[in-house]
Amino acid sequence: MDKIYMKRLIVPCLLTMVGVLSISAQNVYDFKVKDGAGQEVLLSNYKGKMLLIVNTATRCGFTPQYKDLETLYEKYRNDGLEILDFPCNQFGQQAPGTIEEIHQFCTANFNIQFPQFDKIDVNGRNAAPLYTWLKAQVGGGDIKWNFTKFLIGRDGKVIKRYESRDEVAAIEADIQMDMNPVLSNIMARRSVRKYLDKPVEHEKLETVAQAGINAPSAMNRQNWAVRIIEDQKLMADVKDMCRNAPNLICVCAPSNGRFDLDAGLMGQNMMLAAQSLGLGTCIQTGPIRFLTTDEKAKAFRDSLDIPEDYKLLYVIAIGYPDEQPAAKPRDASKVKYILGR
Ligand SMILES: Cc1cc2nc3c(=O)[nH]c(=O)nc-3n(C[C@H](O)[C@H](O)[C@H](O)COP(=O)(O)O)c2cc1C
Repeated sequence: MDKIYMKRLIVPCLLTMVGVLSISAQNVYDFKVKDGAGQEVLLSNYKGKMLLIVNTATRCGFTPQYKDLETLYEKYRNDGLEILDFPCNQFGQQAPGTIEEIHQFCTANFNIQFPQFDKIDVNGRNAAPLYTWLKAQVGGGDIKWNFTKFLIGRDGKVIKRYESRDEVAAIEADIQMDMNPVLSNIMARRSVRKYLDKPVEHEKLETVAQAGINAPSAMNRQNWAVRIIEDQKLMADVKDMCRNAPNLICVCAPSNGRFDLDAGLMGQNMMLAAQSLGLGTCIQTGPIRFLTTDEKAKAFRDSLDIPEDYKLLYVIAIGYPDEQPAAKPRDASKVKYILGR
């Protein structure tokens, strides 16, 4: 085999291997990068932190963003934010010079204190594997310019990508959202439709129920009845209709429908409590017909002991998740802010 042929064969193979590594990576901690002195740095060193990863340049119209980034860093550093700066000369050659020169410029002009890594490519065949992975996580394709940013949550997964022009204030709002345990719990909840074959501990189900009955109800009437199925024999009859979860929460409300709202509020409380305990849930109305009429569900139905004039309104499948569903899109235009004139 001649040398040129070997080169043609080996280079694409190596590139494919790098691509596969980037795609198979689970989170940002699977990557290593080089610091300004050329030393390897494992990103797993940043486990548990929130990361803002940015490709920068010193001669760009956006270069003053260094000031905003440093302000952000100083504000949230003690709460666990790290900003990882990767100078990149790919856009208009606006990051010339050595990494030492770049670092000197940034400390002299913007007093940056966050770590600045070695120069890298973010697009093309020499793109750093970290960037190949980052881009694949949230769509958006190639990096368009300097000062594109990726926000990474404490679990090492990409939360969002921001383009160069996006306001730092928008990033700050997302950082605050993730740092607030209540808000991050709300944002992390997803309907889970695949569960481990492991019943939930009774104590955890009790905690979830407590959260449920602490929901508001009209005049505190608490017109609801909740049945939590732990009996695995009963579950076996209905499991396949309820996402094969090991346990089921059945929420009943008066048949006249006047208290459906109260019953709905308690359901959300229970799902958020479950989320905070590492459990997954899926609220379902789909199986109600089966559960209330099908012969196969008779023993299950009889066990519920639903009060007279109450109906089974919905069920919540609950268990340890065996999947991590992505967030479904939300339509922010449904909300309108009526401002003072
Ligand atoms: C009243 C109601 C009924 C639902 N019924 C079902 C159902 O029968 N089966 C199911 O898989 N998901 C059901 N869902 C879950 C929704 O599909 C889910 O909440 C929605 O797609 C948004 O996804 P997310 O919960 O992951 O944010 C129901 C949700 C609500 C609020």
